[in-house]
Amino acid sequence: MEGLPFFTFFCSLISSSIFLKFCVASDTITPTHSMVDGETLVSSGQRFELGFFSPENSKNRYLGIWYKSAPHTAVWVANRNNPITDSHGVSTISINGTLVLLNQEGSVVWYSGLSGIAENPVAQLLDSGNFVLRDSLSKSSQSYLWQSFDYPSDTLLAGMKLGRTSNPDPERYLISWKSADDPSNGDFTWRLDTPRLPQLVVATGSTKKYRTGPWNGIRFSGVPVFPNEQNYSHKMIFEKENTYYTRSFDNYSANTRTIINHSGFVQWLRLDERNAEWVPLYILPYDQCDNYGQCGANGICRTSRTPNCECLKGFTPNSQQDWEGFDFSSGCVREVPLDCMSKHDFMKVSGVKLPDLLEFWLNRSMNLKECEAECLKNCSCVAYANSNIKGGSSGCLTWFGDLIDITGFTDGKSGQDIYIRFSAGELESIQGSNKKKRLVTVLVASIVSGMLISGLVFWCIQRKRRGNLTYCSILCFFNENLYHTIVS
Ligand SMILES: *[C@@H]1O[C@H](CO)[C@@H](O)[C@H](O)[C@H]1NC(C)=O
Ligand SMILES: *[C@@H]1O[C@H](CO)[C@@H](O)[C@H](O)[C@H]1NC(C)=O
Ligand SMILES: *[C@@H]1O[C@H](CO)[C@@H](O)[C@H](O)[C@H]1NC(C)=O
Ligand SMILES: *[C@@H]1O[C@H](CO)[C@@H](O)[C@H](O)[C@H]1NC(C)=O
Ligand SMILES: *[C@@H]1O[C@H](CO)[C@@H](O)[C@H](O)[C@H]1NC(C)=O
Ligand SMILES: *[C@@H]1O[C@H](CO)[C@@H](O)[C@H](O)[C@H]1NC(C)=O
Repeated sequence: MEGLPFFTFFCSLISSSIFLKFCVASDTITPTHSMVDGETLVSSGQRFELGFFSPENSKNRYLGIWYKSAPHTAVWVANRNNPITDSHGVSTISINGTLVLLNQEGSVVWYSGLSGIAENPVAQLLDSGNFVLRDSLSKSSQSYLWQSFDYPSDTLLAGMKLGRTSNPDPERYLISWKSADDPSNGDFTWRLDTPRLPQLVVATGSTKKYRTGPWNGIRFSGVPVFPNEQNYSHKMIFEKENTYYTRSFDNYSANTRTIINHSGFVQWLRLDERNAEWVPLYILPYDQCDNYGQCGANGICRTSRTPNCECLKGFTPNSQQDWEGFDFSSGCVREVPLDCMSKHDFMKVSGVKLPDLLEFWLNRSMNLKECEAECLKNCSCVAYANSNIKGGSSGCLTWFGDLIDITGFTDGKSGQDIYIRFSAGELESIQGSNKKKRLVTVLVASIVSGMLISGLVFWCIQRKRRGNLTYCSILCFFNENLYHTIVS
C-alpha cells in the first residue's frame, strides 16, 4: 500500500503555523474540505487511517481503511468492485449530501447512497474504524446518515454487526477478496444463518463449506474454546424478528479482527502491537471435522480418531464399500428402521456439535422433559436437545430427517448433549451390546494380567533356583504371594 509521505511531511512542516487547525482536524471531511488521493484521515486516538491505496501487485486505486499500526491490511474498501484504474490525476472523496468518490475525470466511482438530508454534513473516521456520515451538530450513533460498519468487506471489527439489525435494512455479511491483489467480491461468504437459532456459516454460493453449531446462549456450539475467550465479549442480539452477532468494542477486542480470507478460511486475529503482527486466536476450519457434512448423514466426526468418521450408535454405513475406501459421504442408515407403532426411547450422546438446522422445530421455554414429550408426539422427530445452556439448560430443539454435520469432542467444553430416538427394544440391544463389549474387554484384560503375573512368578522361581536373588527378592516375594492369593 502506498502511504502519503508528502502530506504528512507537509503537515509537520506547517504544524506550528496558522494551518495547524486544518492539519489536526484530520479525522473529518466537510463539504468545504474534501480529501484527495495522497491525503488520509486519522482517527482521534490514532488507531485507524482512511485513504487511497493500491493492493500489492496492483496499480488500481481504492478508498479504504486500515489500522494505522498495520498499514498493509485494509479492513474496509469502499469501491471494492469498482477500482479507479487511471493512475494519472487525482481522485477525490467529498460530501454533497452523500459521500461521493470521483475519479480523475470527475465521474462517480462510488457513492454512499441517499440516506437522509443533513444541513451540515461531516464524514468522520472514528477510533472504532467506523467511517460515519452525520450532521455536524449530532454525535449520537442513532442519527448517523450512513456508516461503513453497515457495509462490511471481508473483515469484522469489534462493534460491527453480522446479520440483520432492522428491517428493511440489508443483511450484513462478509465476502472474501478475490485475491491478495484484488478486493472485488471473491468466492466465499461468511454469514449468520437461520435467524431463529443462528449459526455462522462459510459458503461458496449456496454450498456450505463449514458451519459452527447453533448459538447456545453463551457461544456457538462446537467451536473450540481458546485461551482467555471470556475476555472477548461476544454476544447475539435478538430484537423482534432481527438477529445479529457482535463483539463489544473494548480495550481487549479493539485490536482484533475476523476475516474471511480469499481461500475461504475464517481467521480471528489479534494485533500484537509490539511486533506489528497478527496472531491467530481461532481459525475455521480447525481440522477435518469442520468440513461440512464430513461423515455424511447420521455420521459423527471425532477429532481424536483416525479415520475421523463413524456412524452414530445404532446406525450402519449406507455403503460398506465406500466407508472401507474412506469415502464417508454416503453416510449411515439405521440398523433397524424406526417402527412408529412400537414404544420409543432416546439415547444420550454427549459432547457434540449439534447437527445442522435443516428441518427443525424450536421452543425457547420448554424444559428437557417437555422436549422429549414433544418429540415423541411425532414419529418423524428423530432427536432433541436443549437450545440454550446458559444459566441451567432450557429450550427445546427437535430434528426431523437425517442428522447432518455432527462432531464429537472429548474436551467436554465445546459440545452439548443430544438425544437420539430409537425403538425401545432396539435401544436395549444397542446398550446391551455395549455392556457385552465392556464385559469382554474386562475379561480379556484379566486374562492378560493373569498371564503376566504367572510369567513373572515363573521367572522368579527360575532365578531363585539359581540362587540369584539380589534384584528381585522383594518383587518375587510380593508376586508369589499375589499369585497364591489369586490362585487360591
Ligand atoms: C453530487 O455529486 C454528483 C457527482 O458530481 C452529482 O451527480 C449529484 O447530483 C450531486 N448531488 C447533489 C445533491 O448535489
Ligand atoms: C482476561 O482473562 C484472564 C484469564 O481469565 C483474566 O485473568 C484477565 O483479568 C482478563 N483480562 C481482562 C482485561 O478482562
Ligand atoms: C481502557 O483503556 C483506557 C486507557 O488505557 C482506560 O482508561 C480504561 O479504563 C480501560 N477500560 C477498560 C474497560 O479496561
Ligand atoms: C487463509 O487462512 C489460512 C489459515 O490461517 C492460511 O493457511 C491460508 O494461507 C490463508 N490464505 C491466504 C490466501 O492468505
Ligand atoms: C412453548 O412451550 C411452552 C411451555 O411448554 C408453551 O406454553 C408454549 O405455548 C410453547 N410455544 C409454542 C410456540 O409452541
Ligand atoms: C410431523 O412433523 C413433520 C415435520 O415437521 C410434519 O411435516 C408432519 O405434519 C408432522 N406430523 C404430525 C402428525 O404432526
